Amino acid sequence: MPSPRTRVVVIGASVAVVVSAVIVVLSVSTSTGGPGATAPGEPLRDLAAQVGLRIGTAVDTDLLGAEPQYDEIAASQFSTVTPENVMKWEVVEPQRGEYDYSAADELVAFAQEHDQLVRGHTLVWTNQLPAWLTDAAASLSADELRGILEEHVTNQVAHFKGDVWQWDVVNEPIDDDGSYVRNIWYTALGPDYIADAFRWAHEADPEALLFLNDYGIEYGGPKTDAMLDLATRLRADGVPIDGVGFETHLDIAFGKPDLLAAMTRFTEAGFDVAVTEADVRATLPVSEEQQDLQAELYASSLRACLQLERCLSYTVWGFDDQYSWIPGWFPGQGAAGIYDEFMPKPQYTALQRELEDAIGSMPTRREPSAHLG
Ligand code: G3I
Repeated sequence: MPSPRTRVVVIGASVAVVVSAVIVVLSVSTSTGGPGATAPGEPLRDLAAQVGLRIGTAVDTDLLGAEPQYDEIAASQFSTVTPENVMKWEVVEPQRGEYDYSAADELVAFAQEHDQLVRGHTLVWTNQLPAWLTDAAASLSADELRGILEEHVTNQVAHFKGDVWQWDVVNEPIDDDGSYVRNIWYTALGPDYIADAFRWAHEADPEALLFLNDYGIEYGGPKTDAMLDLATRLRADGVPIDGVGFETHLDIAFGKPDLLAAMTRFTEAGFDVAVTEADVRATLPVSEEQQDLQAELYASSLRACLQLERCLSYTVWGFDDQYSWIPGWFPGQGAAGIYDEFMPKPQYTALQRELEDAIGSMPTRREPSAHLG
């Protein structure tokens, strides 16, 4: 038989267990994604909204609806989404003339449900083309290939008319040395395929903002010069181009780019800009010091964007290390995201702090009037 004192202790302990259980249940029920999905402080999208900046993430649509914490973070932290793969040619037109927009439509619906804008990625590129096209390319006449390109761009942009805020119309057209990438389009059609794609996209959705998008233009040098030259010539020829996307896939081994200087050259030439695919990789395992450097590279790229009224959006290329493209492409490297296993990393906090500091001290962009669901 327990003594009265033991009974009090036992009862006290039981009450404590019940109270903690209630607290756990309450805190989990406030967030469908569980404790990891809730980051301390204001969500990135709420902070960014206070300076009119759209903050985005690439989304792997295979995870939507399959991983609740993924959905929870994608919805609560970001105000734009980019399909990581499902608007690419091999997915949307796997057979000639047969379009499949089902996965991309799901993402558009997700975005509309969560008051997010969509960056369309991408209409014309070198990679992720379907086999029917790459196999046939060499035997097609230039006219036939141009016809296929026109049909594809027109069909895709028309399908998403009114739903896509910014399109990456042409992706990665310039090589590191500043020459044109020798892809199937350039080989058959020369550089005119770029102007044509912008014109067809504009005809299909005159409201969408149309971008060139590329990597490695953050550091200056021949590729940045060539991209500025290309955008300027397109504009001078009356081609409907609005902006240039800076992918911003950074690696701590290459140091910090002067992104502000690079982007300013484009804004001064009259273009909008956007950070479209930010991540910061490092060789694994990452030391604390290296992680600090990763956080600083995230912060400084966001700061550059915040300083420019014409920098319309800042997008990370996926938010969680578990699903990053980096380890598959750069063996031995990784930790490039702002979350890991749905827990915010110092890289997340660095972005949050940068946004907090920007409120009241950085230019405010106008809310985009169109494409709001
Ligand atoms: O869909 C197949 C699947 O059926 C198959 O089982 C699996 C086995 O490997 O592969 C799947 O395809 C993968 C695809 O992503 C979809 O997950 C490809 O192997 C893989 O190579 C592909 O990688 C994508 C890469 O573009 C391809 O170029 C990455 O996820 C994506 O993050 C990356 O994104 C690009 C941007 O579009 C442009 N800028 C650079 C950026 C990083 O490379």
